[in-house]
This record gives sequence, C-alpha cells and structure tokens, in this order.
Amino acid sequence: MAQPRKKSRGAYVCNACGAELPKWAGQCPECGAWNSIEEVAAAPAARGGWAAQGQGGAVLKPSEVLSLAEVSPERQSRSPSGIAELDRVLGGGLVPGSVVLIGGDPGIGKSTLLLQAGAAVAGTSSAVAAPVLYVTGEESPQQVSLRAHRLGLAAGAEAKGGGGLRLLAETGVEQIIATAAVERPRVLIVDSIQTLFTDALTSAPGSVSQVRETAAQLVRFAKLTDTTVFLVGHVTKEGALAGPRVLEHMVDTVLYFEGEPDGAHRLIRAVKNRFGAVNELGVFAMTDKGLREVRNPSAIFLSRHDQPVPGSVVLVTREGTRPMLVEVQALVDQSPLANPRRVAVGLEQNRLAMLLAVLHRHGGVAMFDQDVFVNAVGGVRVTETAADLALLLAVLSSHRDRPLPLDLAVFGEVGLSGEIRPVPNGPDRLREAAKHGLKQVIAPKANVPKGGVDGLAIKPVLSLAEALDAI
Ligand code: TYD
Ligand code: MG
Repeated sequence: MAQPRKKSRGAYVCNACGAELPKWAGQCPECGAWNSIEEVAAAPAARGGWAAQGQGGAVLKPSEVLSLAEVSPERQSRSPSGIAELDRVLGGGLVPGSVVLIGGDPGIGKSTLLLQAGAAVAGTSSAVAAPVLYVTGEESPQQVSLRAHRLGLAAGAEAKGGGGLRLLAETGVEQIIATAAVERPRVLIVDSIQTLFTDALTSAPGSVSQVRETAAQLVRFAKLTDTTVFLVGHVTKEGALAGPRVLEHMVDTVLYFEGEPDGAHRLIRAVKNRFGAVNELGVFAMTDKGLREVRNPSAIFLSRHDQPVPGSVVLVTREGTRPMLVEVQALVDQSPLANPRRVAVGLEQNRLAMLLAVLHRHGGVAMFDQDVFVNAVGGVRVTETAADLALLLAVLSSHRDRPLPLDLAVFGEVGLSGEIRPVPNGPDRLREAAKHGLKQVIAPKANVPKGGVDGLAIKPVLSLAEALDAI
C-alpha cells in the first residue's frame, strides 16, 4: 500500500547560540552571528506515534507510572571528590549518574582541577578496579602524565591495589563509551567536549550539532551506568560556553571558573545544580603544585589596611550557603566629561546608577559631575542586593574623603524610597563578621537577632537617612 511519502526535513542550528531555524540564512536572526548556521540531520520519525495507532501503526506498550507517595525519597549517596572546595560547589560531593559541566577560559585551570580531583578519587577508592577514567582529547597522555608529575599527583594516582587513574586518548564518542563500558569507572572525565565527535554526524568537532549529540550520548551513558561524568567545556570570548547553551540544559550541574585569569586565585561557581545550591562558590589559590583549597575565603577578599582609607567598606555577602567578607572600594572624582562615568567591577553597573539616584533623592548628595568607580576586591563578583548599602557608603566615604572605621562591616538592600530592606540569612552574616574580628556592623533592622551577637556593636537601620547618621 503506497503511503504518501513525507519529505525528509532537515533542521538548521546556529553554531554561536544554538538557535534552531527552519531554513538556512547567512546571519542568525537570534544572535546576529554571521556564517554560523549549519544543517543538522533531523532524526527520522521512527514510530507513527500516538496518532498512528489504530491506523496500522505499532501499538506502544505503556510505561510504568508511579504515584509520588510510592516513591521513597532515597537520598542520593554522595562520595567526596577529595577536594573539599569542589565538593562544596557540587553540593556535597560526587553524585553517581550525574553529569557535571566545567566551563572556563583557556588556561584557567580546568584540566589541572580535574586531574587533581581524578587523582584524589583514584587514591581514595582503591577497592574499585578502575575508579577514574580520564579521556584526553586535547593533550597526549604524555602531556597529561608530565603535568601529573609536575603537580606531584603521580603517587596518588597509583592507587594501592587498584587501577588508579586511567588515561584514554580518544575523541570518538562511540569509542569512548565502548571503552568506558568495559573499564566501568566510577568517574569519567572528558577533556574536552569540544574535541569529541560522533560518527552519526558529518560536521566538524566543536560545532553545535556535534557537541549536542556527543554530550547527549555521554549523559545517557552516565544515567544508565551510574557513572559520574565531568565534561570540560570551553568558553568563547564573550564568556558563553563555546557553541551550546543547549549543553547547560542537558547536564545536571554547571560550574564556571570565575575571576581574573591572571590573578592568583581561582573561583568556581555553580550556576546550575540539580543536586545542590546554585551560586555556591569554591575558592582556590593557584600554586606550582596545582590548585589549593582556600578554606577561609574572607581573608583574600579583604585588603587589610593599616590605616582607615576613604572609599573602602567591608561587605558581608553570601555566596551560595556561605557568608563571606568582601571589601568594596569606591573612587569618586571630579569628571571632565559631559556624561560622567559610572564603572562597576564585580558589582552591578545598573544597580550603581540606581543607588546614586537614591543617594541624591533621599540622602541629599548629588554626583552629577563626578566619575564614580566601584570595585569588589579579589576578582569576586557580587550580584546580590545585600551589597547596596556597602556600595553607597563606600561611594559616600570617597566623595567626602572621610574613611570609615576599619572594624566596620555593612550589608543591606536599599529600596527606591530610601528604605533599608532585610536580606536573607542576617544572623549568619553577623556571625561571620564577628568571627573575623570586626567590631561594628550596620545592618537592616529586621536582620538583627534579639539578643544581638557576641562581640559586635550592631547598628540596626530602617532608612538610608539612619544609615548616614550612623557613620
Ligand atoms: P590548565 O589546567 O591546562 O588550563 P585549562 O585546562 O583550563 O586550559 O592550566 C593552564 C596552565 O596553568 C598549566 O600549564 C598549568 C598551570 N597551572 C599551575 O601551574 N598551577 C595551578 O594551580 C593551575 C590552576 C594551573
Ligand atoms: Mg585543558
């Protein structure tokens, strides 16, 4: 019986942003990139689907459906990676069957971190024959070995009685999965996803379709075998993961290296995590022996001054689940420009403009003819609104050239009508300030616990005017 033949439909995707288009174009209508659109083979519709049933199409057997009450909320068993700061951003350790994407600029330390974590896992789980498989698509096994020796990892990677850290130089994803199925590692590290290709597609490795398909196969492998998979992803000049945003949707956890590539510290932030808190921040120091954990990050985001300096305020911020002290600096200077500059490094630029308007309207301080620069020390990025008050006080301190006390910490959100609003986890922040030897805090009234906090003189404020009085 002749069925009407359906024309096979190709699909097109943009290599830059991952947008799907019905037809080819020279420029992507979504992101505006030129020459970025390529054809991907649309998978043939295998089954007639629901509509075809009763017309001779294959009848699908229904899958098992559970009622929520029947499903026991078994907690994910986690195992430590051997690097506490990495465990922290992962939400408490490695989850079997989870896929973690690690993104960052070239040379920022992705391979170093994963090699260290791989060696640590291999060193601690000697019971498993081949605990860690490190797939290197970019470097030769010799290069990886050279690095491991330089980092002093070679000993740890030789697990006692176990297979230790195993290396595979391969870029074909089918080959990798076939090998991993035999090796049965607990942790599979793929460095990097942009170098992999699948035989099913003809496009070049690193293109959107290749990255998407190879990642999909690895995700499926992780779920089927309960392997923890780490994928290294490169980042474009614009800071997005090369090619695919789509990749972020497919994986369970997305970690990004943050901060200045030439700084001495490395920050890793969880921007997505199905197994933990987002925005969690791991802090590392770079050494010739690799990345070293920084257990007490507050220390590195404060530039300890001997004398009080104008324009500097200590902010108690919160990254994920951890409170942290960060120094906020401001410089206010007479502007030669018709449109004075407002520059924020590590803080929100739009928020700065808004706060200056609030300061004018409710604090009576105008900065129309002043350049205003603000900076969060140490390359950390603070996006929460709890930074508002600290930012305003730093600006004001610089403007008036009057320093604030060295032992003062500040946090609180500033509203458009000049009110100071509470922020999440006030008591945690107050305790963090006390822990680091600060003596005074200006905080939103609702954030101050009844009994106060030992060793702290807390000034609760309800409005900007009260905060200005307090200093
Ligand atoms: P690498 O891990 O190769 O970066 P990526 O995989 O993200 O491109 O690190 C780049 C270089 O920096 C490498 O030569 C090792 C060196 N490095 C250190 O010496 N110590 C460190 O703590 C880190 C993170 C890197
Ligand atoms: Mg690398």
